[in-house]
Amino acid sequence: MYSFVVFAACAMLSAFVQGQTNPCAGTESGRLSSRLLQNIRNNDANNDSFITGDEIKADLVQHYDKNADGCVTLQEWVDAWASVKFSNEYATARLLDLNVNVTSPCPLSVNQFQGVSIPLVGFINANLDSLIKLCEGNQTLYNTVCDCYQLKHQLCNLDAYFQNFASCQKYVSSVLVG
Ligand SMILES: *[C@@H]1O[C@H](CO)[C@@H](O)[C@H](O)[C@H]1NC(C)=O
Ligand SMILES: *[C@@H]1O[C@H](CO)[C@@H](O)[C@H](O)[C@H]1NC(C)=O
Ligand SMILES: *[C@@H]1O[C@H](CO)[C@@H](O)[C@H](O)[C@H]1NC(C)=O
Repeated sequence: MYSFVVFAACAMLSAFVQGQTNPCAGTESGRLSSRLLQNIRNNDANNDSFITGDEIKADLVQHYDKNADGCVTLQEWVDAWASVKFSNEYATARLLDLNVNVTSPCPLSVNQFQGVSIPLVGFINANLDSLIKLCEGNQTLYNTVCDCYQLKHQLCNLDAYFQNFASCQKYVSSVLVG
């Protein structure tokens, strides 16, 4: 009887703690690695490990610029990222890290990146860095934002692909271990 009560109390405590601290519960967000890979496929459509201005434009036109005015607003950006189940917090942080003026009438032109060719590795590290900066900048977000929770608990330390990127390795050594 005693051990059953202790067991039941522990089970309740554990459920309570999990309910409190895992912000992904009930969001149907899946894994952060899957969301990042979807974003990578959207940006490197021909899968040659370089993200060109033409590929970015095609992605922005197809997934972001819903009113087809040639501009991507903060709301359109957040909506596009939400369609992949990224958080509003991460979406906004990433857009701000592109140094756009979110209050201007045309924060991001679909032609903004014409002519560029960005190595995929740099693109991935930049996207990881924006998330790491966001979550480390306000560590409450580890408990309230699914992207931050999964960054800390699965992406950089457990994912066989993303754990190889410099941003993840630095995060693991300086934040998770250090
Ligand atoms: C892209 O190419 C890599 C090999 O370079 C392969 O592992 C991966 O599955 C490919 N992705 C897609 C979406 O075709
Ligand atoms: C951002 O855009 C707004 C509206 O066009 C403008 O008033 C403001 O000066 C801009 N801010 C910067 C830093 O350029
Ligand atoms: C940190 O994040 C929490 C949870 O989202 C939020 O309530 C709080 O205002 C944030 N703090 C700062 C300083 O931005």
